[in-house]
Amino acid sequence: MLDRIKALGEGAINEIRASESRQDLEKLRVGLLGKKGELTEILKGLKELDGQMRKEVGREANLLKGKLTRIISQKAEELGQKEVGKSLGMDTGFDFSLPGTELPVGALSPITIVQREIEKIFTGMGFSIVDGPEVEDDFHNFEALNIPEHHPARDMQDTYWLENGQLLRTHTSPCQVRAMFKYGAPLKIIAPGRCFRNENVDASHENTFFQLEGMMIDKNISIANLIYVMKLLLSEVFKRAVKIRLRPGYFPFVEPGFELDLNCLICNGAGCSTCKRSGWIELLPCGMVHPNVLEYANIDPEVYTGFAFGLGLTRLAMMKYGIRDIRVLNSGDLRSLKQFATV
Ligand code: PHE
Repeated sequence: MLDRIKALGEGAINEIRASESRQDLEKLRVGLLGKKGELTEILKGLKELDGQMRKEVGREANLLKGKLTRIISQKAEELGQKEVGKSLGMDTGFDFSLPGTELPVGALSPITIVQREIEKIFTGMGFSIVDGPEVEDDFHNFEALNIPEHHPARDMQDTYWLENGQLLRTHTSPCQVRAMFKYGAPLKIIAPGRCFRNENVDASHENTFFQLEGMMIDKNISIANLIYVMKLLLSEVFKRAVKIRLRPGYFPFVEPGFELDLNCLICNGAGCSTCKRSGWIELLPCGMVHPNVLEYANIDPEVYTGFAFGLGLTRLAMMKYGIRDIRVLNSGDLRSLKQFATV
């Protein structure tokens, strides 16, 4: 009798564990513990047994009853959860309590980081951020910037021309033009964006790079304002006071035009390989807006003056983060980006 109980128990437990629906489980339960269930019958038959035997068999049968009841109710819960999962369209057998797979976290490009920093500095001074198309027309990229057709300055920037006569903008300066037409004077804008030039690519040249244009037009704007704003910008970006110098530079849309050099931050002006031993780094072309450019945009140069600059964002990011090869920035190589992760 004891053997029968043991065999019954083992068989039943396996069947319960293997059952795949709550109906199957219920059938098993009835077959074992229902009114005419196998185990119930054994319990009913106890009274026929004598003394010692009844005691032993009774204990085993009752232990088994408890055990089966527990396993059945556990299994019922498990099957119930699976059914809920199924009704939600989820895969059966899914363990909702398992931790999820961690998704890889990206990082901002160093250019974006510097761009946002500069945007913050300028919006703090009341500048607006404007945008412009990457596919431009001759008028905005050249003509309205005092670079008429056949002007030799067009050769300073190797242009990608499109078949329809449009072009990929060679600088962010067309954004100045669009802003002047749209908002008139006074005006305070910056325009970050991507530019394109037909350059041979090497460690310090790319055909696709970022600039950040700036323009301020008002009454009585002078070179002093330009220098002040540029110095403020650079010391905020590099988080320390910086030394700058202006050299004359030629751009048809500014007069006078300058090349602003930054005292090399790596050697403090002593001369190193980064500044090619000169102690200075050419960083920021700028100047006072040419009267022709104002006139083109219907702004009276007798009343208004202004300055403009075209910061090389890509250059600046490279300086700030010590990136030696410009090609890394457009490579899409996530390993290089990961170094700049801020989260
Ligand atoms: N657009 C010029 C360039 O890319 C830079 C510049 C902008 C110079 C504004 C002066 C004023 O070469």
